[in-house]
Amino acid sequence: MDPVSRGTFEEESAQSTWAILVAAGTGERLGSGRPKAFAALAGRPLLAESLERLDSSDWVDAIVVAAPPEWEEPAILLAEELVASKVTAVVTGGATRADSVRIALAEVSEEALVVLVHDAARPLVDDAVIERVLGRLDGTVEGVVPALEVHDTLKRVASEVVVETVEREGLVAVQTPQAFVADRLRAAYAADLAGATDCASLVERQGGRVAVVEGDPRLAKVTTAADLERVEQLLDRSDP
Ligand code: CTP
Ligand code: MG
Repeated sequence: MDPVSRGTFEEESAQSTWAILVAAGTGERLGSGRPKAFAALAGRPLLAESLERLDSSDWVDAIVVAAPPEWEEPAILLAEELVASKVTAVVTGGATRADSVRIALAEVSEEALVVLVHDAARPLVDDAVIERVLGRLDGTVEGVVPALEVHDTLKRVASEVVVETVEREGLVAVQTPQAFVADRLRAAYAADLAGATDCASLVERQGGRVAVVEGDPRLAKVTTAADLERVEQLLDRSDP
């Protein structure tokens, strides 16, 4: 399906920070019988939470959503229901997360200066973390990721037996939203995407400097049904 465009391109093109919201995964591990982005979170599709939050952020000028195949129309309807007026295009995602980002990136204006990439699977994105990642993108780095320190002991395991205990010093667990200089992200996505688990790793492969800022425990990814319950509880206590 062709990308579905809304609004006039001329209106959007002068704006500088574009967000890509990747929501095209199948949600295999959640197993809700529908794509994860449309699993129910407090009575709404999971996607609604991050979409509403990005749309209402003063830091974000325009949004491109990567939806699962066959779920483009529900994604457009959801954006309309939420009056998420910054949504400029809904594209059909690809086979991997990296493919979905590449497809969405093609809909980002040439004039965008900064691209923020966020997982719909992390519903509780807020302005504080958006401000931290964008604020660190100061011309000395090409990308910025939010991350949390790792406190558990880490071990490499094969066939359920420990191969080694990994030195924890200097290791962090990386989240989204990740912010990039638009041109650097485009260059990174023009290359081979194999093995890329996040956007930053592609920028790193090309020698790009990626800074790390403080993440947020509430941004932990929804992978399983237990994660969904945990986010639902956090939602009760958080300001939308
Ligand atoms: N994603 C995507 N396109 C894909 C795969 C993933 O846009 N082909 C998105 C997901 O929608 C999610 C984020 O990337 O917001 C992180 O992926 P993950 O948590 O692994 O979600 P799923 O791939 O849907 O889940 P699973 O791996 O359990 O199937
Ligand atoms: Mg996945």
